[in-house]
Amino acid sequence: MWHAVKTLNAHNGYVCALIAKVARYSVSAALRKESVALVYKSHGDPMQVLKLQKLNLPALGDSEVLIKMLAAPINPADINMVQGTYAVLPELPAVGGNEGVGQVLEVGGHVTSFRPGDWVIPRDAGLGTWRKELVLKEHALLRVPSDIPLACAATLSVNPCTAIRMLSDFENLQPGNSVIQNAANSGVGQAVIQIAATKGIKTINVVRNRPNFQTLTEYLQSLGADYVITEESLRKPEMKDIFKNIPHPRLALNCVGGKSATEMLRHLQHGGTMVTYGGMAKQPVTAPVSSLIFKNVKLCGFWMTQWKRDHEHEMGELNEMISSLCSLIRQGKLKAPAYTEVPITDYKTALENAMKPFSSSKQILVM
Ligand SMILES: NC(=O)c1ccc[n+]([C@@H]2O[C@H](COP(=O)([O-])OP(=O)(O)OC[C@H]3O[C@@H](n4cnc5c(N)ncnc54)[C@H](OP(=O)(O)O)[C@@H]3O)[C@@H](O)[C@H]2O)c1
Repeated sequence: MWHAVKTLNAHNGYVCALIAKVARYSVSAALRKESVALVYKSHGDPMQVLKLQKLNLPALGDSEVLIKMLAAPINPADINMVQGTYAVLPELPAVGGNEGVGQVLEVGGHVTSFRPGDWVIPRDAGLGTWRKELVLKEHALLRVPSDIPLACAATLSVNPCTAIRMLSDFENLQPGNSVIQNAANSGVGQAVIQIAATKGIKTINVVRNRPNFQTLTEYLQSLGADYVITEESLRKPEMKDIFKNIPHPRLALNCVGGKSATEMLRHLQHGGTMVTYGGMAKQPVTAPVSSLIFKNVKLCGFWMTQWKRDHEHEMGELNEMISSLCSLIRQGKLKAPAYTEVPITDYKTALENAMKPFSSSKQILVM
């Protein structure tokens, strides 16, 4: 699954060194007080290798912030990181989790951007968010408003950002244009549906068939989905009926790979783009020769972590993206993905549910 992502990571060495630095820092022996964290000392099955344990908190430096984590989701990339199959891996032992929201408890003498009580999210991946408290550098954090729902803040920095970038950066989509995506019930997929709806972009949403397909369809439609179809329908002639009402998509968003990606490609407009951002089926992407020659479709990849690093020095763009997402949240146009809150002490249940197929519910650890 991560082969495609690995090829995107041009700065692997740099990234690993960065994450390793953070991991070492987090388990520093410079005692301040203790935190509790989900730690793994070796890679493997998350159910086996993750353990809840006490960690020493380092003393608060002048440019540092003490944070109480409030909530942190379990995303597929977090699982892959613990398994040791992700493109970037922290030095071990490490704390699991890459995103989440925390509240500032205390700031160092030179900190100017945050005050106690502020809500903050990590700017980058690899900080280890599955813990109760942690100390981070001021520049590793972004403030988010504390009047948005906790679950929205906890799941803001990865999936909605990925959705908005993919809808903006590859094709110049106009109201009335259409987008097709698979794994449409994923966290990213739900954000794509809602953000596209705010722009008047039509969405064709592909999901795996399941006994409660109708309920899932109604849920995705309540978010703004125009069409919800199964993987099987994607290959059927009835697809033509959809294109009597809306144009063929200019953009396909591929989270799955394998047959699903191949079939989406067949429906793209001439010159359209398929962006691969996940590989849930663990199958390579196969492009029909006819789509390449006669339709000149473009195949691209996207990795949010890389985008953030590429825009590290353009704070404006990142802040602008976060604030426009928060504005959609405030207007009720962007909800958190369907989720279940689980106390961190019950992490095994959360992990088990996060790794189950057809669960359609993001597991969010609450601290
Ligand atoms: N490149 C990036 O920057 C970026 C950013 C965010 C996320 N991602 C990736 O995007 C993917 C989704 O992340 P998420 O947080 O949105 O996930 P999520 O909410 O946990 O949803 C997982 C999705 O994958 C589907 N799925 C699982 N196994 C599948 C299989 N074998 N075949 C087809 N579909 C399958 C699930 O469908 P069912 O309900 O049918 O099980 C569900 O729609 C992950 O691979 C993640 O790492 C990439």
